[in-house]
Amino acid sequence: MSAAGQSDDIDWWGTLSDPAFLENPYPELHRLSARGPVQFDPASGIWFILGHKAFSKVLKSQSFGRDTRNWAGGWTTEDYKKADPVGYELFSTFQPQMINCDGPEHRRMRAVYEPAFRSQAMADVVPIIEAEAAALLDAMPDEGEADFITAFAAPLPLRVLCELFDLSAGTDARVARWSASLIRIGDILMTPEQKQEALDALSEFKAFLKECLAAADPASARNFMALALKARDDGTLDEEESLTNLISMLIAGHETTVTLIGNGMLILLRNPEEMARLRAEPALMRTAIEEFLRMEPGGNMILRVALEDVEVEGTVIPKGAPVLGLIGAVNRDPARFDVPDDLDIARPANAQLTFGGGAHSCIGAPLARLEAQIAFSAFFEKYDTIELAGAPEWRLDRLNARGLAKLPVHLGAAK
Ligand code: HEM
Repeated sequence: MSAAGQSDDIDWWGTLSDPAFLENPYPELHRLSARGPVQFDPASGIWFILGHKAFSKVLKSQSFGRDTRNWAGGWTTEDYKKADPVGYELFSTFQPQMINCDGPEHRRMRAVYEPAFRSQAMADVVPIIEAEAAALLDAMPDEGEADFITAFAAPLPLRVLCELFDLSAGTDARVARWSASLIRIGDILMTPEQKQEALDALSEFKAFLKECLAAADPASARNFMALALKARDDGTLDEEESLTNLISMLIAGHETTVTLIGNGMLILLRNPEEMARLRAEPALMRTAIEEFLRMEPGGNMILRVALEDVEVEGTVIPKGAPVLGLIGAVNRDPARFDVPDDLDIARPANAQLTFGGGAHSCIGAPLARLEAQIAFSAFFEKYDTIELAGAPEWRLDRLNARGLAKLPVHLGAAK
């Protein structure tokens, strides 16, 4: 390290995209964290935060925002437009949504969907999630081998979201395809082909949702769709904002939750004594899910932009600089978590930062937690034994969303 926080001897993006890192990032993240909680990559101009205390401070601070239009030399500048017209078009078309805005603009958009996540609304969606989980379990064998991801973890959150948005089961595959292309925006570093694919997905997704909004009847619409129509009709959101926020909600709520359920099951399969403990003490389900979120956060990068020169843990981050919290490191910071690489389904005061924090903290966290609780409970009820039946396969085609492509399991029926 040549200056305070500056790591010009590390190929950051080479490391973050290395297949070995994507298979198991934690040993490397521990090595990087040992160099300091705040580090600068001169090659990309990005500040990486690896410490829990440092990133908690960033998330709470008014000196950081999430609006990338404040990123000096970032995606919205004229220079970037000339250098990368496809990237420029992608990021500017995807701009008008809550995650990309700060202050009153952000609050106006976020307020549209907040009622959908209040406790009564969550109680109302329990039967929807239970029915979708039951339908998937009915279609699975009573015993034998199955792929936990394709048979259960992947379709469940997608089905639930499509139900909440009044989208028919026939649209699941298209929504999943668009979502898979667009989730890569969270990778920050995308190839030209990935940007073009995401741009194409964005325009198809928008055209599809525009038709859905036009066809929907505000008198009979339910859940999220009812909120989207109300915001359109009372002028809270213009058409671009309505469509972009809808798309964002469908992407943000889909693979992240697949990852929580899939990665959570893998963690239990690798710790059979903790799986047995959870079965014996179902009251631990809530803390177990917090622990899955801590150990395998799925989304490994959370972005902020410095709105002024600001000191974090002794390092000054300049105004306009992009900052990436590496959540896989933050959630396993030994200064904050005892034996951070070990699973403890009853871990007390689990301050994992998987849902971010501050004004932008994940609006869908209550839904994700509820889906995971119902998913694990329903699966345990149907199967008495669940064991690994082969090597799990990680998706290696994304830098941010860390999830499984396959999780072969051997299932034994409940008596
Ligand atoms: C395990 C599942 C999930 C994870 C790990 C996750 C993670 C995140 C993270 C890291 C952020 C950014 C927080 C920040 O910048 O501080 C976020 C924001 C967001 N999430 Fe989630 N999310 C999940 C599920 C969901 C669900 C189910 C929905 C909706 C159906 C959703 C909708 C959103 C939206 C709309 C935002 C933007 C909030 C804002 O900017 O105010 N997420 N999520």
